[in-house]
Amino acid sequence: MIQETIVTTLNPQGKAHLAPMGIHVQNDEFIILPFRPSTTLDNLLSSRTAVINYCDDVRIFAGCLTGHRDWPLSSAEIIKGVFLNAALAHCEVEIIRIEEDAIRPKLFCKAIHQVQHRPFEGFNRAQFSVLEAAILLSRVNHLPIEKIESELKYLAIGFEKTAGPREQEAWQWVTSAIQEKCHEASHS
Ligand SMILES: Cc1cc2nc3c(=O)[nH]c(=O)nc-3n(C[C@H](O)[C@H](O)[C@H](O)COP(=O)(O)O)c2cc1C
Repeated sequence: MIQETIVTTLNPQGKAHLAPMGIHVQNDEFIILPFRPSTTLDNLLSSRTAVINYCDDVRIFAGCLTGHRDWPLSSAEIIKGVFLNAALAHCEVEIIRIEEDAIRPKLFCKAIHQVQHRPFEGFNRAQFSVLEAAILLSRVNHLPIEKIESELKYLAIGFEKTAGPREQEAWQWVTSAIQEKCHEASHS
């Protein structure tokens, strides 16, 4: 199973980095798969630790891809790291082995410490729409414009029926950024 999370890491100077990452869960192992080049990968290779944040505020997923990265953080409890104050839960992890790959190495991690912060309040279709739109944004240079437009049209159905203010803000950031990139691509 793949869980869509926010991975927080620290660079050697202690600067925090946030990135949405799909974590592969295999038995009791978590596999982080960053595409090169990646700040998350660099930080993980130097610190050997990260925090996996489980978060239903999709503005953070959208924000990481659209320049809104200033989300409140707190110090992790066991490892040297940080977690998102908005996380419903977080898991502090450590690398146990690495499968090297020129494109997308696999970082196998084990949980060191897990904390529940607040309850999960159920699925929301607009959150799904924002996550899918954010993934489209991260691949916008590799996909035909018609495919992006038709997928956004479909995602807008669930979004319009169920979004709250957080989802509306996130959707606005992502769809504007997609429009901008498509506009740039059509004029280059
Ligand atoms: C829901 C979601 C899941 C993502 N999963 C991954 C992933 O597993 N690996 C990856 O390299 N990028 C993933 N991305 C894209 C990255 O978050 C984004 O490109 C980011 O800048 C990663 O690079 P960084 O480590 O340099 O920040 C995902 C984006 C979204 C919206």
